[in-house]
Amino acid sequence: MARLNILEYPDPVLRQVSSRVTRFDSDLAALIDDLFETLKVTGGLGLSAPQAGQSRRVLVVHVPDDAHGPQAYVNPELLTRAAPGLVEEGCLSVPGIIGNVVRATQLRVRAQDRDGQLFERDLSGMHAVCLQHEMDHLDGKLFIDRLSWFRRWRIKAATARSLRTEQMRERQRLRGT
Ligand code: NI
Repeated sequence: MARLNILEYPDPVLRQVSSRVTRFDSDLAALIDDLFETLKVTGGLGLSAPQAGQSRRVLVVHVPDDAHGPQAYVNPELLTRAAPGLVEEGCLSVPGIIGNVVRATQLRVRAQDRDGQLFERDLSGMHAVCLQHEMDHLDGKLFIDRLSWFRRWRIKAATARSLRTEQMRERQRLRGT
């Protein structure tokens, strides 16, 4: 198992739509193990393959103390959604930012496991919220897209500013050598 490097906004890979998994082989099993390992190390609740630079429809969710335990979802689809609520979210790919997002707090999901076996499950609470957040990643969406336009604008401006600062430092470093 290995700890995966997590891409951060505004990396363009985070904006790609991931492709469906068709081969359930040792390569997929290794990716799932690595996602779980990385999740454990980073202390997140969920992680998707595209965040690790692999545009495949694979994600893991592990909410401590929840009855489901660590769960991998391959090619997940939502069958039903209910009970929308405002939830505070953050993302390993958007460090330092937290915002309120509307999510269904009850849902039914259909997905495949690491062996390709189809399953359906009713989820509620944090596990359901987390699954929707990770499913957004599979479609190239980030939770910040679901914030108000004003907050999105502020995040964009702050990111551009820090990129400019980085580039400026880089130029200074080059001049210094
Ligand atoms: Ni995320």
